[in-house]
Amino acid sequence: MDWAGNTTAMTNRREFLQKLLALLGLTTFASFLYPFFKYFSPPAGQAGAGTFVLSKADIPVGEAKETVVNNTPCVVINRPDKGFIVLSRVCTHLGCLVDYQKDKKRLLCPCHAGIYDLSGNVTSGPPPKPLQQFPIKVEGNSIIIG
Ligand code: FES
Repeated sequence: MDWAGNTTAMTNRREFLQKLLALLGLTTFASFLYPFFKYFSPPAGQAGAGTFVLSKADIPVGEAKETVVNNTPCVVINRPDKGFIVLSRVCTHLGCLVDYQKDKKRLLCPCHAGIYDLSGNVTSGPPPKPLQQFPIKVEGNSIIIG
């Protein structure tokens, strides 16, 4: 390779590196912008909606359905004899997500065995207060949450 060939190769390499750095810079810039816009944009779907509706038929007596209310993981429970209730799944101890246990008619926190009844009251374990309850209205075949 002669002197002119070396110069052309170096120019090509330099252009390639400049383009690569520009791409990396753009990617880095986008990675900072994304969380910014995500923070200020409204949440998608029902999570951000003030009110949303579920069908009563989707949750037979004794069953539950997990959902999200105002960005909080929740469970809608159709309690035998007491009707529907919407409870936060966020344990009031350290914030783990509680699970509905149909057979034991309770909510169990898997982290430290905190137990709540189907009204969200603490029955056992370390949680200091009941689960947060969300407003609900039952009209006809609809459960209106929020
Ligand atoms: S986080 Fe639920 S009992 Fe500790």
